[in-house]
Amino acid sequence: MKNYLVTGGAGFIGSNFIHYMFRKYGDDINIINVDALTYAGNLENLKEIENRSNYSFVKADIRDKEAIDRIFKDNDIDVVVHFAAESHVDRSIKNPEVFVETNVIGTAVMLNSAKAAWELPDGTYKEGKVFLHVSTDEVYGSLSDPKDYFYETTPYDPHSPYSASKASADLLVKAYTDTYHFPAKITNCSNNYGPYQFPEKLIPLMINNALTGKKLPVYGDGKNIRDWLYVDDHCKGIDMVIESGRIGEKYNIGGHNERENIHIVKTIIKTLKEILPPDDPRSANVSEDLITYVEDRKGHDRRYAIAPDKIHNELGWLPDTSFEDGIKLTIRWYLEHEDWMKNVTSGDYQEYYKRMYNE
Ligand code: NAD
Ligand code: TYD
Repeated sequence: MKNYLVTGGAGFIGSNFIHYMFRKYGDDINIINVDALTYAGNLENLKEIENRSNYSFVKADIRDKEAIDRIFKDNDIDVVVHFAAESHVDRSIKNPEVFVETNVIGTAVMLNSAKAAWELPDGTYKEGKVFLHVSTDEVYGSLSDPKDYFYETTPYDPHSPYSASKASADLLVKAYTDTYHFPAKITNCSNNYGPYQFPEKLIPLMINNALTGKKLPVYGDGKNIRDWLYVDDHCKGIDMVIESGRIGEKYNIGGHNERENIHIVKTIIKTLKEILPPDDPRSANVSEDLITYVEDRKGHDRRYAIAPDKIHNELGWLPDTSFEDGIKLTIRWYLEHEDWMKNVTSGDYQEYYKRMYNE
């Protein structure tokens, strides 16, 4: 039975990954979820699986070397799936230091602890061990030519403190494979959307604001392009890379689904209007009149677009969920989980929102 150590498993993609893995492998795997439970971590995301005998949760910070070493000592970990990170560009612009601490130093701690636990006296590694570092397409910077795509060979050119910290972490992982032949692999994925995403990111923020009749703040001219992927398709790609990807390689993950931000916002409004029953009191709030163009994000990357040829050709990965289906699934999930949204938007979120959008 494979033992997975998932970092950041209480966040958006990490919790979806844990659900995905239990749906796929059932009792044939064991998962240990290590998360510091920052504002972005929420154990409610894992309520349905928390009592499984093959799941456990450890509250720990990935910067805490002793705590991480202890987890490797107490458990024979086969696979590390490293999600834990500070993940929001706007927060990184306001407060970059914690991005360096968690995303760079935290990754260094994870690499060192895994290396210490897995390395044999002759410098090789125990068989079958894999460290999967989860990264982003934002490390490649911004595309200006509409015919260009991000390939695994595209030079790194990060612009925000977030993407710079993720790029640094990726290079550290690469250095461990180049220098120590450490058994790591990297995935660089495009923008994810789906259940359990914190409403600081575009899609859940717009859904929540539209339902509550708040303005929909579109940065700049609304024509920045992101390449959206339903979160389960990202999880499927990570699992395939762990199982069959080559050690020391990186794999881009994305579903050729480029959309302008304004298109996303209008699609959310249109879909909400279609789905909400007319007698639902929330439907009265939903209107394009809420769209408000606001000051642009500093250093705002214009376009991201992934070429997923390598993961498709080598591993046979293709996305299962079209954007049209994925956005409906996502909106339905948020409509059915109003309490989840209320819980995560109470307290600190109000303060964040005021600082970010009202000042
Ligand atoms: P998220 O912010 O929703 O979740 C991050 C999780 O990490 C939270 O549970 C948080 O509590 C935990 N965490 C933060 N700092 C920690 C620390 N010091 N120690 C332990 N745990 C800590 O992020 P997400 O959107 O789920 O992203 C997960 C990973 O995927 C990140 O590495 C991100 O860079 C990458 N990624 C995200 C996207 C996207 O669209 N969201 C796309 C590509 C790659
Ligand atoms: P976001 O979800 O923060 O992801 P990322 O910056 O990592 O791509 O933002 C997606 C796009 O939406 C990005 O171009 C910024 C834009 N955006 C807005 O226009 N308004 C908002 O309130 C937010 C959060 C994002």
